[in-house]
Amino acid sequence: MKTALVFVATLDGKVTKWGDPLVRKWSSKADKDYFRMIWQGSTLIVMGSTTFNAHRVKPSASHYFVVMTSDPAKYKEFEVTGQLEFSDESPAQLSARLDLLDYKYMLLIGGPHIATSFLKEQLVDELWLTIEPRIFGTGGNFAIEDELDIELSLISCEKVNERGTLITKYALLKK
Ligand SMILES: NC(=O)c1ccc[n+]([C@@H]2O[C@H](COP(=O)([O-])OP(=O)(O)OC[C@H]3O[C@@H](n4cnc5c(N)ncnc54)[C@H](OP(=O)(O)O)[C@@H]3O)[C@@H](O)[C@H]2O)c1
Repeated sequence: MKTALVFVATLDGKVTKWGDPLVRKWSSKADKDYFRMIWQGSTLIVMGSTTFNAHRVKPSASHYFVVMTSDPAKYKEFEVTGQLEFSDESPAQLSARLDLLDYKYMLLIGGPHIATSFLKEQLVDELWLTIEPRIFGTGGNFAIEDELDIELSLISCEKVNERGTLITKYALLKK
């Protein structure tokens, strides 16, 4: 199983606009179409509790969603075993457990806290980054609050609209 980290960011690296969690307010139609496509094609999707609370997903027989939280009991009412689960496993424990299941990809859809905890432990294989031609100045980056030194290699880059939204894929080089 490969772990792919998926984000849409601006040219100045922001994944939120001025603290507003709603990404769809500023991401391009091309990115929304792309995200919908990879969402439909990916059955295993992992996110942090803050991302879940900002963009609630519904349990679905065609997906296995795992939400990472230190307090799974708080989310008991949302849980449907095998479809929408809440886990207090560490990134390494979760990756090792899910690796035993028969998935080709695990999509890690954020947010920055979860992304950084997986990046720190070298548990990410690919970065699928949409780059929107916008600059926000303030807002969060997808890697935060830690000293990282990760080298990547471009797999693909596609210009998907007139303005120049780029859909990129990078492989993380393991040390
Ligand atoms: N532009 C994009 O592509 C994109 C993608 C995703 C999200 N976002 C934005 O990012 C924001 C949310 O990101 P975020 O970084 O604040 O939150 P997050 O990464 O979604 O969730 C962080 C929370 O997850 C829980 N957690 C469980 N295990 C963890 C671990 N090992 N490491 C870190 N956290 C762990 C903690 O909450 P508890 O333990 O208290 O539950 C923690 O506060 C939202 O505004 C969202 O819209 C943007």
